[in-house]
Amino acid sequence: MEFNIAVIKGDGIGPEIVTEAMKVLDAVASKYGHKFNYTQILMGGCSIDAYGVPLTEEALNTAKNSDSVLLGAVGGNVGNSKWYDVAPNLRPEAGLLAIRKGLELFANIRPAYLFDELKSACPLKEDVIGEGFDMVIMRELTGGIYFGERHTEEVNGVLKATDMLTYDENEIRRIAVKAFEIAMKRNKRIVSVDKANVLDSSRLWRKVVREVAKDYPEVTVTDMLVDNCAMQLVMNPGQFDVILTENMFGDILSDEASMITGSIGMLSSASLGSTKLGLYEPSHGSAPDIAGKNIANPIATILSAAMMLRYSFDLDTEADAVEAAVRKVLKEGYRTVDIMSEGCTQVSTTEMGDLISARV
Ligand code: IPM
Ligand code: MG
Repeated sequence: MEFNIAVIKGDGIGPEIVTEAMKVLDAVASKYGHKFNYTQILMGGCSIDAYGVPLTEEALNTAKNSDSVLLGAVGGNVGNSKWYDVAPNLRPEAGLLAIRKGLELFANIRPAYLFDELKSACPLKEDVIGEGFDMVIMRELTGGIYFGERHTEEVNGVLKATDMLTYDENEIRRIAVKAFEIAMKRNKRIVSVDKANVLDSSRLWRKVVREVAKDYPEVTVTDMLVDNCAMQLVMNPGQFDVILTENMFGDILSDEASMITGSIGMLSSASLGSTKLGLYEPSHGSAPDIAGKNIANPIATILSAAMMLRYSFDLDTEADAVEAAVRKVLKEGYRTVDIMSEGCTQVSTTEMGDLISARV
């Protein structure tokens, strides 16, 4: 089969990790007789440098007209990069938000599971890890505080900044439905995470999730406050199957979940809407401090490419092959520096990509 993929390498380590994911996709293409056509587009800091904006209309249209989008990461050092002190809508991250919104990708799926081979890289104690964990974080991606009105003003000589957190019931319902659909294919347990002891938006969240739950009697739903969830993730990660939550809580909890898998360099993600078009990116950022050193872990991006094969192209066998190749390389003891442990062989970004491609 033939597919058109829009490729956004982005900033920092983005180009390095995306190159490795493309290498793996090419290995899949030649083994299974597919054709992947890549169109590179700019987004983030590199787009600001070239065009003055983090995402051009033309780039967004290219993404819209593709079968899916593969993304590395965008942005520089927060606080001290040349792209920080500009209007919020002109920062690199604004490009990411614009493409998520522009493609209506409201459902962000972030699977976090512990590879047996990486148990020693997991920062939790053995008795906490137990049998390991395998969870999926379903993060709402086009609403909430990320997309509310924001401004900074001076009131009576005092600076004041505002960010609005708004959800309507339809936005909550469609992500909840996705979460229930995914739970039905897994262990049928959802923990819906909110801050209903304080926020109105969370009370609405609970109400709508309960309504949707009526259509899925087989799924067990529990509500959990976000602060408690942050604690439970490091106390008993094995309890989670599907975590359903709003945009900012999902951003924070998914970083936490990624770390207990051994490294933030392991967590893939898929952003989906109501069509087959999806955006696939690692959950980590652009890591400008290690950019260009050929040491970044490309596995999260490679696993994101596997999710693309599965969700956008319906190529399950091929997706399985990529995931198995990653597992094999880990079993054989190859590690990038972030997941390195005693007795293993340390490899670079490009070597990791080569090793995985060769095992597809
Ligand atoms: C993520 C990232 C982004 C987010 C940033 C770069 C805007 O942290 O994908 O989790 O907050 O969504
Ligand atoms: Mg994040």
